Amino acid sequence: MVVDPARVPGHVAIIMDGNGRWANQRGLKRNAGHEAGEQALFSTVEGADALGVRDLTVYAFSTENWKRPVEEVRFLLGFNESLLRRRADELHDRNVRVRFIGRRDRRVPARLVRLIEQTEGLTRDNDGLTLRIAFNYGAQAELVDAAQRLVDDARAGRLEQVDESAVAARLYDPEMPAVDLLVRTSGEQRISNYLLWQAAYAEMVFVDTLWPDFNGDELARCIELYQQRHRRFGTAMDTPMDRREPPPGDGDATT
Ligand code: FPP
Repeated sequence: MVVDPARVPGHVAIIMDGNGRWANQRGLKRNAGHEAGEQALFSTVEGADALGVRDLTVYAFSTENWKRPVEEVRFLLGFNESLLRRRADELHDRNVRVRFIGRRDRRVPARLVRLIEQTEGLTRDNDGLTLRIAFNYGAQAELVDAAQRLVDDARAGRLEQVDESAVAARLYDPEMPAVDLLVRTSGEQRISNYLLWQAAYAEMVFVDTLWPDFNGDELARCIELYQQRHRRFGTAMDTPMDRREPPPGDGDATT
């Protein structure tokens, strides 16, 4: 089986799971697993780009990850910062546009927020792969924040009606397209508060590989599995693909 270049998912989202277990299996500290995850991430970015994926969104730190031991939280914050510092130019040279989705609240160190904004600014006009890093991200928090914006806009007279596009326009990145393929590594089969709105019609692929062992070839295998699926978007099974209505907002810049 090979990837059909005509049916590559436009938007792939990944839950990079299993760093801790990878490290434990080797008698290492959990943080060594996160460090090893960097290489997996860059191989996956390279693979996604080569296959023609347009958008790749990875879950780097969730709103629930603050509950981890303080040393691990501190490590993850510092690691994200050092990764950006070390790799921003390389991503820029690869024509990757980097964006962050998540709450930029007071728990995120100001230095990291500045670096995030610099990286977004540096790569803003790139027209290759868009790499979104979900950081201090939770889908429920994103929907709460969108609801708050709806209320604020309604009070200010800036809201005509509440519908799907009104909500989509108030998500962290309104330009983010719907997720086509959602991959989770490490054998867990959960969504874990990730992209609940955007992944409404995503195909799910769960692989046993622990994140540090994932790479561009593994991504290609996930895409092969995706290409065996029949996406129906809520339609009847006997509706031919080419006569199906897209889901509300699909392919629209606001979902
Ligand atoms: C989940 O594994 C992974 C994380 C919470 C962090 C993800 C971070 C990276 C992959 C590092 C590189 C990427 C960026 C963008 C900094 P886990 O710790 O939950 O593993 P476990 O389930 O085996 O304990």
